[in-house]
Amino acid sequence: MHASVNRVKAAIFDLDGVIVDTAKYHYLAWKKLANELGIDLTIEDNERLKGVSRMDSLGIILSLGGLSFSEAEKIKMADRKNAWFVDFVNQMQPDEILPGAKELLQACRENGMKVALGSSSKNAKSVLGLLNIEHLFDVIVDGTMIKNSKPHPEIFLLGASLLNISPDQCIVFEDAEAGVEAALAAGMMCIGLGSPAQLGKANLVIPDLRNFTVEDIPNVVLSH
Ligand code: BG6
Ligand code: MG
Repeated sequence: MHASVNRVKAAIFDLDGVIVDTAKYHYLAWKKLANELGIDLTIEDNERLKGVSRMDSLGIILSLGGLSFSEAEKIKMADRKNAWFVDFVNQMQPDEILPGAKELLQACRENGMKVALGSSSKNAKSVLGLLNIEHLFDVIVDGTMIKNSKPHPEIFLLGASLLNISPDQCIVFEDAEAGVEAALAAGMMCIGLGSPAQLGKANLVIPDLRNFTVEDIPNVVLSH
């Protein structure tokens, strides 16, 4: 009986690091820019950039180096980083979809759930297009549609509202600490993909989507 009250009707997926292995390309491109500025960007520092918008990520990097620049200079730097990122993703192969992701998207749909993308990236639609998986989403919310990037809940609340599903009936899949915080702030359940040390605030943390099925989603009511 409780399941019918709380049942999950929609799944909202982050993109970079959840559906496709592009988090590494963001890191490589930011590292190249940081190194040019004489700043060391470690894997640990990079955790703070995940899920965060392009300009906010640049702000974090510059603060690591104690550097400040004019808005115009920062826009030029962010554009250069983005050009490197776009070069990487243009060489990406469809097999860079992360293991289990496509299967879970399809299983959610087959079980009557709505599926949305909730990504801070302004490149999200082109990445989905390159992978040829746009058709697996009922709604796509990306970095071009929001004012506040994660950890603000705007992106997920907009996804729920476009799906016409109440936030408490949505579950979010996230690999970033900022993304987990955004989902929880939106009043949604959240499954963290990665390490419990990083994503401990999530309702459940799993290493990746390999072997994770729609039956493993808490409170889901299957349609078969
Ligand atoms: C998020 C990534 O999905 O998108 C961040 O986790 C990235 O690393 C952000 O900075 C913005 O991406 P883009 O493609 O608009 O620069
Ligand atoms: Mg991510």
